[in-house]
Amino acid sequence: MANLVTSFMLWLTLISYAYTTVHASPEWPRGRSTRFYDFKIQTKTVNKLCNSNQIVTVNNMFPGPVVYAQQGDRLIVKVANESPHNATIHWHGVRQILSCWFDGPSYITQCPIQPGQTFTYEFTLVNQKGTFFWHAHVSWLRATVYGALVVYPKPAVPYPFKYPYEEHIVILGEYWLQDTVQLERQVLASGGGPPPSNAYTINGHPGPNYNCSANDVYKIDVVPGKTYLLRLINAGLNMENFFAIANHKLTIVEADAEYTKPFTTDRVMLGPGQTMNVLVTADQPIGKYSMAMGPYMSAQNVPFQNISAIAYFQYVGAMPNSLSLPARLPSFNDNLAVKTVMDGLRGLDTSAVPKEIDTNLFLTIGLNVNKCRSKNPQQNCQGQNNGTMAASMNNVSFIKPTVSVLEAYYKGIEGFFTDNFPGAPLRFYDFVSGAPNNAPIDTNSMNGTRVKVLEYGTRVHLVLQDTGTVTTENHPIHLHGYSFYVVGYGTGNYNPQTANLNLVDPPHMNTIGVPVGGWAAIRFVADNPGVWFMHCHFDVHQSWGLATVFIVKNGKGHLETLPHPPADMPRC
Ligand code: C2O
Repeated sequence: MANLVTSFMLWLTLISYAYTTVHASPEWPRGRSTRFYDFKIQTKTVNKLCNSNQIVTVNNMFPGPVVYAQQGDRLIVKVANESPHNATIHWHGVRQILSCWFDGPSYITQCPIQPGQTFTYEFTLVNQKGTFFWHAHVSWLRATVYGALVVYPKPAVPYPFKYPYEEHIVILGEYWLQDTVQLERQVLASGGGPPPSNAYTINGHPGPNYNCSANDVYKIDVVPGKTYLLRLINAGLNMENFFAIANHKLTIVEADAEYTKPFTTDRVMLGPGQTMNVLVTADQPIGKYSMAMGPYMSAQNVPFQNISAIAYFQYVGAMPNSLSLPARLPSFNDNLAVKTVMDGLRGLDTSAVPKEIDTNLFLTIGLNVNKCRSKNPQQNCQGQNNGTMAASMNNVSFIKPTVSVLEAYYKGIEGFFTDNFPGAPLRFYDFVSGAPNNAPIDTNSMNGTRVKVLEYGTRVHLVLQDTGTVTTENHPIHLHGYSFYVVGYGTGNYNPQTANLNLVDPPHMNTIGVPVGGWAAIRFVADNPGVWFMHCHFDVHQSWGLATVFIVKNGKGHLETLPHPPADMPRC
């Protein structure tokens, strides 16, 4: 785990490196400097939770290698798939300006890299810095195929917060004692919900609450009085999580790789796909303190893992075998704790919040139960009321096509998608209180590969509305290709007359946990041409169809036009 424990020395190295190259390097889009990485997707045998099993990794590391870069750098990552599964890598949070071909979601921007094949991702970190992560974007492979992507600010730009003594990456994950690609197949075939994970993990380690894991625990050594930067990343599959450190305050200074006004709290909640930088000062008596990750479950009747993953925040000078002080996590359904953190997230630089809007979109998000169509209902219709589980946006369950949407769009190949994704629900009703989609009682969704086409430069106001069709739930909705301003959120049904919008200091994010039984309003300017996936970052909901695609058309001239695909684009 030594690679995860980096000090600010690295930052300094990067800064001096950039200084030496700054005069020689050409201007954007080539970047300040180019960084090369080699990713080999490989299976590896690991012992965890009293079991030995095979997991898919990058370079035999779990979590995978950290990718370091600096704002404006160009990244070139050659991915060789030596695993038996199809694979792709997505660079979560990277806007991929004019580089949509390298975004990574399978069947959206590329065909998967088949076993034995390679593909090289190549993109520039245009105006972006902070904590990102990369993960597989095929089936549920990202359960073990993930790692941090840390982008340092440009040199000579002062850090607007307390300068930390050291920094550490803290990746929250979920671990299964089962091949998760098979697991997805089984869950979809059953028509029912997924089993809970076998463990939560912090940097791959479950910690002492789990069987056979007393020594499978991550630890940070801290010097009394010093301030530490923790780069929190939730790479979990199907759960949102609370995180807290015993007796220590967390000061949030960045969310989804954008600075925030400092906000101090006892705990945070991260949905899968969210990242957060927190500063923690070792200001307590010398000792050993727990860092804990536990469940936030807002849905009804969904089984989940309830054992916390534990890591240690251990002062230099503490007795190594001393008992750790327990961290206090909110109870699993503490919606107020989630709201409190959300209320505290305020953007630091919000000069670009769109004030005028060209297009208003209203999207319901939620689960469905479709009528059983199998001749073998006992096997295939294990959803509620003997139906099959599904999920949808505006009651359309997104079906991934058999070629990538981007390729079909770019080459004008017809028959793989339709451009009729509705910009509003077909019917308005009391979405939250579980009223039926259609009278009298109908919880079915429609299937389709429907996309929404946006003209270049469209200023979008988008409302995400949770539904209670099956159960209300906080859904972590992620948009590719953009960060958006979260200008409002609330509980109940969205009402434009009463909704309170914050156009002053909204946070700039790429994944928003839409409040359970509530709504969130986001704004962005569609100025990055390409094909962009928007989906629930719970993999099971994505598999069930809680997704849609935006196609953003080219603007004028080559700076507003998506370039050609690379020659080594994988084929389906
Ligand atoms: Cu982090 Cu489409 O995902």
